[in-house]
Amino acid sequence: MKKRLSIAIDGPAAAGKSTVAKIVAEKLSYVYIDTGAMYRALTYKAIVNQLELNEEVALLDTLLSTDIKLLPSNKGQLVYLDNKDVTNEIRTSEVTNNVSIVSIHPKVRREMVRRQQAFATEGGVVMDGRDIGTHVLPEAEVKVFLLASVEERAERRYTENLQKGFPSDLEKLKEEIARRDKIDSERDVAPLKKADDAIEIDTTSLTIPEVVEKIMALVHERIG
Ligand code: CDP
Ligand code: CDP
Repeated sequence: MKKRLSIAIDGPAAAGKSTVAKIVAEKLSYVYIDTGAMYRALTYKAIVNQLELNEEVALLDTLLSTDIKLLPSNKGQLVYLDNKDVTNEIRTSEVTNNVSIVSIHPKVRREMVRRQQAFATEGGVVMDGRDIGTHVLPEAEVKVFLLASVEERAERRYTENLQKGFPSDLEKLKEEIARRDKIDSERDVAPLKKADDAIEIDTTSLTIPEVVEKIMALVHERIG
């Protein structure tokens, strides 16, 4: 039987991580894990419960008593928070604009990483996030760091929002993405950073199938 690999896909906001990670997972019949959805789910719960987002201990206590499930479905990955479907709720701009603050806290990250590693004990997983290649799966056989210019990434989100029927302001999207990248890159613990052994792919002028093809080539190199 072919070896089931662990594949780590990191990069800044809207670089195309989840889109290509899902396709790669489907092609290989692997499990796809969106770690950003886990930080978003905690942020959503913290906002609903009116927690102070700078309070690390309160956030950790909340997380420890919170069940977060990522379930595959024919509509894509569904996110359940304490058995309630919050797939759409965790994508609001309120959550998006606060998630990087929640993600700064080392104790919160430690618990998230523990849960993420538990998903990957048997390989056969494609995981995307910010610290997968550096911290969550440092032994992953394939590590990819996806990049794209901030202008291109804002355009992608803008188009995505239009398609969903929520027109947005392109300049504002660009500012929000840049702000989130800055917080994610500058935090002390597990910042957004390319792992030394990750392959960098600049997707600015690549289509989704082109990016998928590049990752699949890396996978086939490893599978042999
Ligand atoms: O999809 P998008 O790029 O908008 O973000 P996401 O992957 O849903 O992640 C949301 C936020 O969660 C990021 O901006 C980070 O602050 C945090 N995150 C993290 O700190 N570590 C991860 N492994 C994944 C996400
Ligand atoms: O997960 P992440 O935030 O990195 O990005 P995403 O949600 O997968 O992708 C953001 C948007 O960019 C989606 O609407 C994708 O369809 C689009 N995209 C693209 O247009 N070209 C690519 N090479 C990759 C993604």
